[in-house]
Amino acid sequence: MTRRDELDLLADADERARRWTAGIGSPERAVFPSGSALADLARLDEPLTAAGHAPGETLALLDEIGGAGVVASNDPRYFGFVVGSTLPVAAAAERLVLAWDQCATAFDNSPAAHLLEKQAGRLAVEVLDLPRSSAVGFTTSSGSGAVVALTAARRALLARQGWDVDRRGLTDAPRLRVVISELAHVAIVRAVRVLGFGLDHIERVPVDEHGRVRADAVPALDDRTILILQAGEVNTGEFDPFADILPAARAAGAWVHIDGAFGLWARASGTHRHLTDGIELADSWTTDGHKWLNTPYDAAMLIVRDAQALSSTMNSDTAYLSGDDYAQKNLTLELSRRARGVGVWAALRTLGSDGVEELVDRCVSLAQYAADGLRANGFTVLNRCVLNQVLARADTPELTPAVRDRAIASGQTWFGPSMWQGQPAFRISVSSWRTRREHVDALVKLLGECRVL
Ligand SMILES: Cc1ncc(COP(=O)(O)O)c(C=O)c1O
Repeated sequence: MTRRDELDLLADADERARRWTAGIGSPERAVFPSGSALADLARLDEPLTAAGHAPGETLALLDEIGGAGVVASNDPRYFGFVVGSTLPVAAAAERLVLAWDQCATAFDNSPAAHLLEKQAGRLAVEVLDLPRSSAVGFTTSSGSGAVVALTAARRALLARQGWDVDRRGLTDAPRLRVVISELAHVAIVRAVRVLGFGLDHIERVPVDEHGRVRADAVPALDDRTILILQAGEVNTGEFDPFADILPAARAAGAWVHIDGAFGLWARASGTHRHLTDGIELADSWTTDGHKWLNTPYDAAMLIVRDAQALSSTMNSDTAYLSGDDYAQKNLTLELSRRARGVGVWAALRTLGSDGVEELVDRCVSLAQYAADGLRANGFTVLNRCVLNQVLARADTPELTPAVRDRAIASGQTWFGPSMWQGQPAFRISVSSWRTRREHVDALVKLLGECRVL
């Protein structure tokens, strides 16, 4: 391929991406793909050919068949999974980084990527007001970040018992305890499971009617315990009572991890920050850029108070490639990796702390506005809407999923199903910079119509 052909191909991709972006929010675009678009996806099921295909033809197939079969999660009418649509500056920065094609392992592989991710980490701990000396690893997801965080926690707690887990392994190691919420997110349960703590050994703390851990039911903690709490319960958006639990947990020498996949961003808001009071006393936190900060996917953050605890756990220095304590290869599981923190850098630098606060505040107030509208249209809202989540149901257990199915079939929205206290519910998340009152009005009107069909 000549350089000219390469540039033409990129221009073609840009033009196709521009057309996609121009259509965001248009009523002609189905938020969930139509039946015929889904059927067309079968055309991607091709055999491997010996001769391959022309690059332009591959791109056209991707756009025409793939593009018609995507969920428009960057559309203001999308209310699913607490994932917001990417901010333009973060998307644009991502494109540029792709052109650079950096291996963001350590300074030697990419001085720019190394320093940009270091700076992104600094900005993140500042806007989240967490200990400034924390290490920040940019992981693919909160779930993978939790695996790394709990690995560092286990190593540190065992070291305090005089056990060098790197050398001696887990067989015969002092027994550690893991305490989690009855409503811990599945990503946390998976992390605990894959690390071999054993689900039968986990101590689960009961929750109150809002889905918050009951502080009075937290078992006595000690210096062999990992306690995992959450900022933003996935259904209700509620926060565990950190200030009632963390001082004693800290005094007992437990390691406290916070799953704040989306809820940690409440800390950036003067109005909602109180929900996170006490969270700064934890040892580690995980959160996603790709949820409420509206960065591209694959941009999660693992933040660890004791930077050394993380960098010594994950260290992968070798004769041919070493790095300092900020080298992402020494903070995460990957050696070869893309500079996934650059989108976070671009978002935070561009929004500033006021911009993040405005994004958070607007989403929360739109969620409360949606809840009011749903109530007025005969739905039951099951949560207090302290954050950006609305958990609701229709008149009967049968009608609730039927309303959702009808709404999605209209092509004008998408939001997720759930179960709450054993009964079907649906979950509306407001987490996109694009979503405005008019989109919430349209959603409420549509659901009202679907309820009485
Ligand atoms: C509360 C909570 N924790 C953890 C996760 C897992 O995050 P990720 O998908 O980035 O692994 C999610 C969402 O997916 C979540 O909502």
